[in-house]
Amino acid sequence: MNAGSVFPDNIQKALRNNPPGEWIPEIPKDCIRLHCGYPAPALVPDEEVKAAVKSLLEEEHDLPLLYIGSPKILKLKEQIITRLKERGISVAEEELLITSGASQAIDLIARILLDEEAIVAIESPTYMEALEIFQNYTSHIISIPVDKQGLQTDVLEEILKERKQKGLTLPRLLYTIPTFQNPTGTTMTEERRQHVLMLADRYNFLIVEDDAYGELSFNKRLAMLKEMDQSSRVLHVGSLSKIVAPGMRIGWMAGTSQIIHACAWFKKDLNHPFAQAAMSVYLTKTDFNKKLVTLRDTYRSKCAVLISALEKYLPESASWYVPEGGYFVWMKVPGADTSKMLTQSLAEGVSYIPGKYFFMDQADGTEFLRLSFSYAGEKEITEGIRRLGRVVGAYL
Ligand SMILES: Cc1ncc(COP(=O)(O)O)c(C=O)c1O
Repeated sequence: MNAGSVFPDNIQKALRNNPPGEWIPEIPKDCIRLHCGYPAPALVPDEEVKAAVKSLLEEEHDLPLLYIGSPKILKLKEQIITRLKERGISVAEEELLITSGASQAIDLIARILLDEEAIVAIESPTYMEALEIFQNYTSHIISIPVDKQGLQTDVLEEILKERKQKGLTLPRLLYTIPTFQNPTGTTMTEERRQHVLMLADRYNFLIVEDDAYGELSFNKRLAMLKEMDQSSRVLHVGSLSKIVAPGMRIGWMAGTSQIIHACAWFKKDLNHPFAQAAMSVYLTKTDFNKKLVTLRDTYRSKCAVLISALEKYLPESASWYVPEGGYFVWMKVPGADTSKMLTQSLAEGVSYIPGKYFFMDQADGTEFLRLSFSYAGEKEITEGIRRLGRVVGAYL
């Protein structure tokens, strides 16, 4: 510990990283919010959650408000296990841990598996909050590029081969968002999924599969990595944030009982027993498959609105990837510094997230930006992109 600081070296080092949430700029009132990865307000079931809370308290009185909470917490676990089974993943009770959002699952995984010496491989670009979490535990992060078919597993293989030949330490973990990736919206192909699982076996690392958007496919779906995993290498992370309500903080991880046990050990009761019980009641009363149809229809339509506005209002030189699900469109504006351009954009009344926040080396993201079609209404999306077109046109 340095004199003058109350913190040990590892914490001092972590505190020198970019501040958490730095990517969320101050958004002026009336600005069209194309930056945020929130669900569409009309799809957040506030009335249904209110009814669930009422019925929970009428039935169980103070029980859901005590440390130990309602027996419905166990029911929620069963409900998640059942849903995973319907989606193709079989997990036993001791192989699943409910967490405070997917974020806590990622943090717990990092906490039990990493130390200062550990190497983590991530996608480049990737979900900025996961990047922050990993940086809190290690400085050794290897970025593997993503293209239209998702993680470039051939590049990963080259890096692994070279490190092995040189006798260098190999990654302990790979963090990937294979389906409707944040921020690119891309999906890893079936061949690459097979390839990455093979590499995990050959080079002995674990894969964190972040499936936060996996239920939000507009068309067909691919098998999850966890479904294809023959050798228990995949830690599957999921969440109800994008499909029910992020403020309830309900996520989970599915992995071997050994890993789940260790994560539970450190999680202790850093939990939301009341939200878990309320969520269980909400799910019991909800036709979830029907809700998913509504979610997918809504986001498919909003995405189409955003894409057609981009085609109409953006200059020729700009390009973007059309996703098949999820919340985001990733855009490239050659020659731009999207971080600087944000000032003009906010002044025009439209927000986005500059690409740099999604990269380990922020310089790699200068020309990119992330747009979200999840939160704003369709008319707002069109107007927002019209404004963005003006900003990009003037900037270039
Ligand atoms: C890829 C990804 N993983 C995890 C999360 C966080 O999910 P949760 O709200 O469950 O912590 C997000 C939210 O933006 C995300 O985009």
